[in-house]
Amino acid sequence: FKVRKPENEPIKSYGPGSRERESLKLKLQELKSKPIEIPLIIGGKEIYTERIGSCIIPHNKQHVLATYHIAGEKEIKMAIESAMEAKKEWERIPWEHRVSIFLKAAELLAGPWRDIINASTMLCQSKNAFQAEIDSACELIDFLRFNAYYLTEIYSDQPMSTKDFWNKLEYRPLEGFIFAITPFNFTSIAGNLPIAPVMAGNVALWKPASTAVYSNYFLMELLREAGMPDGVINFIPGYGKEIGDIVLDSQELAGIHFTGSTKVFQGLWKKIGENLNRYKVYPRLVGETGGKDFIFAHPSADSEALTIALLRGAFEYQGQKCSAASRAYIPSSVWSKMENKLLNEISTIKVGDVEDFTNFMNAVIDKKSFDKISSYIEYAKESSDAEIICGGEYDDSIGFFIEPTVIVTSDPKFKSMKEEIFGPVLTIYIYEDDKLEETLDLCNTTSPYGLTGAIFANDRKAVVHMKEKLLHSAGNFYINDKPTGAVVGQQPFGGGRASGTNDKAGSKLNLLRWMNPMTIKETF
Ligand code: SER
Repeated sequence: FKVRKPENEPIKSYGPGSRERESLKLKLQELKSKPIEIPLIIGGKEIYTERIGSCIIPHNKQHVLATYHIAGEKEIKMAIESAMEAKKEWERIPWEHRVSIFLKAAELLAGPWRDIINASTMLCQSKNAFQAEIDSACELIDFLRFNAYYLTEIYSDQPMSTKDFWNKLEYRPLEGFIFAITPFNFTSIAGNLPIAPVMAGNVALWKPASTAVYSNYFLMELLREAGMPDGVINFIPGYGKEIGDIVLDSQELAGIHFTGSTKVFQGLWKKIGENLNRYKVYPRLVGETGGKDFIFAHPSADSEALTIALLRGAFEYQGQKCSAASRAYIPSSVWSKMENKLLNEISTIKVGDVEDFTNFMNAVIDKKSFDKISSYIEYAKESSDAEIICGGEYDDSIGFFIEPTVIVTSDPKFKSMKEEIFGPVLTIYIYEDDKLEETLDLCNTTSPYGLTGAIFANDRKAVVHMKEKLLHSAGNFYINDKPTGAVVGQQPFGGGRASGTNDKAGSKLNLLRWMNPMTIKETF
């Protein structure tokens, strides 16, 4: 059995008047008109608890899409038991049977489930149709198909045997369960974090972000329809600290697959360190955390391409990508050619509801995020080292809307050049053309992160030099392109420094982290 190398799932355009658009709009209407109740799913059973949360639409905050049940101590322990019970059979199922379930899930998502997963992501995470399509349809389908293909390659990678003995590597899953803690901003990442270890024969607990429970629940239902056995993934929405404390106390914890904040990941790591004697195995810690991703332009940069990269990199999905371009270094000769164009383009950006397909931006995820982002804008307004050259307004009367905002600072270490904001705020430092070297040094050292970065230059020697100087500043490094939008199978994704363990999502490197290989030698 060999999974053929997949092609990336083609992106649908949802153009005006198209059948695709009409069908997606109907699904949006249908979902909005029918609020649902979301249970926990543990060992294949729907579990209802005493505590309830709600899923709202960020761009229309009065609209409740669903209520969901919150896991408590009893349910979390039940989820661990169910996972460990399911593991007994799951890890012994021949791998091609495991993988078939997820290849079927990819087909369901590419076909009958596409609208529901896209529409639920659009509503609960305030994503426009294009951003939802590239995430919850295409990227997730790619994760499923490419991981199946990579497993074929990993399992067939075997040591040499001789006439006197044979050798084998048996790629066993880890001994225990995996705890997947998933982010709101990508439904594809939320799915991949439990699914990748599970495809390799592990079982998982899945704690979705509270702001993404709605779309993530539909995805869980899709996996069940594809034939995923009960207990293999256990869906437990709830409070991070409460769930984390119980799960991290379990001696069966074998790994954490995490995307979220640096602070939370470091907290998990410390707690695991304290608990180390408790576990049967050393838990594998795989995390992708924050970013303060840069675009660095050389005097030879193409100012048109740079303008587009800044617009798309900083403002698509309201800048709520860990890869978003949030700081830029631009030489004054290039800046003078592009300033007007950039400002003109930004003034055409429409911000609003996801059902108006002409809106390039929608709302940020919730009140907490809105407050955090606006505090950075206020800080810049008050500072004598910064000027807001466009945007700067925000309004949460209907939904959590923030204008695309550009800050120009004279201080290369300005607060918003260093700290992750996770919103539609781009900070630019304009440097004198003859100060390239020291500005590259600043770019490399100003923030603790190392996730993505982009350089713009047409001078090939400069490209080579800049890449060397910025060597550890990014795990995903782009030349003459925006630093967002990694495609599975093309740009394996992840970064180092404070941005995580760099175990590239959607690649063999990631899948290998969920395996505990056994070397077997038999002498004849
Ligand atoms: N993978 C996404 C991107 O490349 C971020 O998580 O933009």
